[in-house]
Amino acid sequence: MSTLTRSAPWQRLQQHSREMQAARVAELFQRDPARAATYSLERAGIFLDYSKQLVTAETLELLLQLAAERGVEARRDAMFAGRAINSTEGRAVLHTALRRPAAGAGGAANDDLAADVERELARMGQFASAVRAAGVDGRPLRDIVNIGIGGSDLGPRLVCEALEELAPDGLRLHFLSNPDSSAVLRVLKRIDPAHTLVVVSSKTFTTQETLANYATVQQWLARALGSEAAAQARCVAVTANPPAAAALGFAPKRTFRFWDWVGGRYSLWSAIGLPIMLALGETGFRQLLAGAAAMDAHFRNEPLATNLPVLLALLGIWNRNFLDAGTQLIAPYDARLARLPAYIQQLDMESNGKRVDLSGEPVDYGTGPVVWGDLGINGQHAFFQLVHQGTQRVPVDFIGVLDAAGGLPEHQRIVHSNMLAQAEALMTGRDWDATRRELIASGLEPEAAERLAPHRAFPGNVPSNTLLLDAVTPHTLGALIALYEHKVFVQGAVWGINSYDQWGVELGKELGKRIYGELAGAPQQRAHDASTTALIERVKTALGNKPGVQL
Ligand code: F6P
Repeated sequence: MSTLTRSAPWQRLQQHSREMQAARVAELFQRDPARAATYSLERAGIFLDYSKQLVTAETLELLLQLAAERGVEARRDAMFAGRAINSTEGRAVLHTALRRPAAGAGGAANDDLAADVERELARMGQFASAVRAAGVDGRPLRDIVNIGIGGSDLGPRLVCEALEELAPDGLRLHFLSNPDSSAVLRVLKRIDPAHTLVVVSSKTFTTQETLANYATVQQWLARALGSEAAAQARCVAVTANPPAAAALGFAPKRTFRFWDWVGGRYSLWSAIGLPIMLALGETGFRQLLAGAAAMDAHFRNEPLATNLPVLLALLGIWNRNFLDAGTQLIAPYDARLARLPAYIQQLDMESNGKRVDLSGEPVDYGTGPVVWGDLGINGQHAFFQLVHQGTQRVPVDFIGVLDAAGGLPEHQRIVHSNMLAQAEALMTGRDWDATRRELIASGLEPEAAERLAPHRAFPGNVPSNTLLLDAVTPHTLGALIALYEHKVFVQGAVWGINSYDQWGVELGKELGKRIYGELAGAPQQRAHDASTTALIERVKTALGNKPGVQL
């Protein structure tokens, strides 16, 4: 048994979960009229109602004991202090330092680091305001193409899409991540080379997909603009590996840097956020940082029992480890947040998808859940069926935005009524007998009602959180993203895993390189299994030696 599963709070939680088998959230509400108020709070601009979770005061008390036992606060302080908590890579985890300029003086763990961060932010700011005002080469900017993948794509894409209304009219942002031909050709078809800026975003500057996309876009630009130099003038690099960017021709003044202590999936606050700054301006970007800094301050200073990220994390652990829920559904009810599920998916799954603890011992408990989701209303008309009546428990985070979003209150009423109804229906369910009686009341023969009732009954008791933002602004969005970052941190701390490496992505990359060579005609270096060999042959035949399109 591991230290975690042996610990007294864990053992007590296990015992308690057995006692909770028969509990119904709906009944907990009947017993405690103050439950909704007790289990909700508002901090850093975000309101959280977690009263529909299958928890009691005892559950929360035990979960808080677990957090204390696992030294969550000490680990949190070690992260903010810049200690090398990413132990397998010997690195600090300091994405929070990127938002400290926004938090005002006195927040920096280290003055040099703070000065570096501020210097790069200022460089980005100067560049963004120059390009926003006068374009590149005096020609106004119409298209920005961000070439990047994973953390070098999802964060800027989420924020730019969420805050689209704040970008200058006529400025279009394109995000190129997938390297398949159609993805590249579609972007090239839409952009005007003389009015385009390309941002090549890669922490390592070695990512095959990004470099392939850049090479093609660069070639296309050179042809369209008449020279390599003209093409280069329209491209900037963002990286933690400036020498690699320099090797591809990016001069230092066209390279924006960040640092190895910023994880890829935590990098939108760094120069990786350049497209955000180009869209929102420096002020907007700093407001985003300020929102995240407000959540950082809350996370650092608030007692655990009323600490939003801690609560979200502990409720997640309760669902994952004690109520046997293997997934977490993220359901935003506002189209501006459509990319949030994909963003949280990388953040959570790449961080906490680990099977050994910090000392390399296999864990004997579940770690990160499968995180998935989509816009809630779309989900209602697609996959919510399984959440209501399937055979597994799927905890849900409902995320709503209270502003009138362009002044259509009727639409907002539709959206919010749907969100609230889903959370209520998932919690209360409708048992077999009530279903049968309703069917009879609606005119069905008792026999038919009996037959139909099992199909139309709902088990209920599906746990959910409801998070509400007043509006989608740079500030609230910054706070919301930082909330989930810290949730993931706390879960990693309790599970005793390293949330900041991602070795699991490496093997596929290695084999991919080998197969890439084989598809290009290199002799096979190592025997593949029969399935892979046959598939390689099939792809090779299909690709043949066909000439590419003329760029
Ligand atoms: O392969 C996974 C990963 O390394 C992510 O962690 C990262 O966000 C993404 O690839 C992109 O990496 P880079 O920014 O170095 O191109």
